[in-house]
Amino acid sequence: MGVELDAPPRGAKHESRSLSLKQGVAQGVAMDGRAVRLHKLIAATGLASRRKAEQLIVSGRVTVNGRVVTELGTTVDPTRDHVKVDGKHLRATQPFVYLMLNKPKHVMSTMDDPGGRPTVKDLIRGVSIRVFPVGRLDFDSEGLMLLTNDGKLAQTLLHPRYGVAKTYLVKVKGVLTDEDIHLLEHGVRLDDGITAPAQVKKVGKAEQNSWLEVTIREGRKHQVKRMLLAVGHPVIRLKRIRMGPLSLGKLEVGSFRFLTDRETNALRELVRKRIRAVESEATEMARTRGAVKGIRQRPQREKVVS
Ligand code: URA
Repeated sequence: MGVELDAPPRGAKHESRSLSLKQGVAQGVAMDGRAVRLHKLIAATGLASRRKAEQLIVSGRVTVNGRVVTELGTTVDPTRDHVKVDGKHLRATQPFVYLMLNKPKHVMSTMDDPGGRPTVKDLIRGVSIRVFPVGRLDFDSEGLMLLTNDGKLAQTLLHPRYGVAKTYLVKVKGVLTDEDIHLLEHGVRLDDGITAPAQVKKVGKAEQNSWLEVTIREGRKHQVKRMLLAVGHPVIRLKRIRMGPLSLGKLEVGSFRFLTDRETNALRELVRKRIRAVESEATEMARTRGAVKGIRQRPQREKVVS
């Protein structure tokens, strides 16, 4: 049994046409018992976008355990709560899917473009499950893009708090000095603040230009281009080659493939570890703050005058 994919549009290239249900389940119908926002759960099943899911809720078309719910902040436990839209159960078997695309230059990394330019949606047209891109690449940037319907995983991969590494192969004007690299590795001042330390490796050199591998753990707009411009080396070409445990490898430009079980598991493991690390850091900070407050609030002992 498989999750059916529509016939691909003419000209669309993809390396895997169907996703077995087993793989789909392994990829993430992981019902881990945590509360999720109702509109996100509806969107994750592919029934509607998040915005449309909100409209469904507000207009009274959604019930949770038999009761109409119209509040947008409502959370549900997908393992226990019965959610219906227009009287029909949400398809609980809709798997999470994860695909990797090699975005070409001059394609928008969004699912639609008001300006009518080509988008990544055009490249994955054969996929019937609604997915969205995890993060952005500039119009003229290339390389690895992850697309999924797993909102929570996407959020963790994107939020700078979790510091997931993204590596870019970058062609720049000129050759970086050791001082330039030192600056990039310690933080450069941009108009939206100093960047977190990056890793920079020289990987090639021509007469006028050079190639670098740059790894960052944030995701500000045009960040790599702005960082390199700040040290005097405008970017000529930029290609994302790694994201967390994922590597672009030999995936053809314009093609996509589903992640393997091993890749999906590695991604999940990374996300779990990052969430755990951030949570324990927060707990530790709260404990320290509590201890400091406790010291400040402890009543002074009266002096005993003997
Ligand atoms: N940094 C950039 O400057 N552009 C991209 O597309 C990605 C990272």
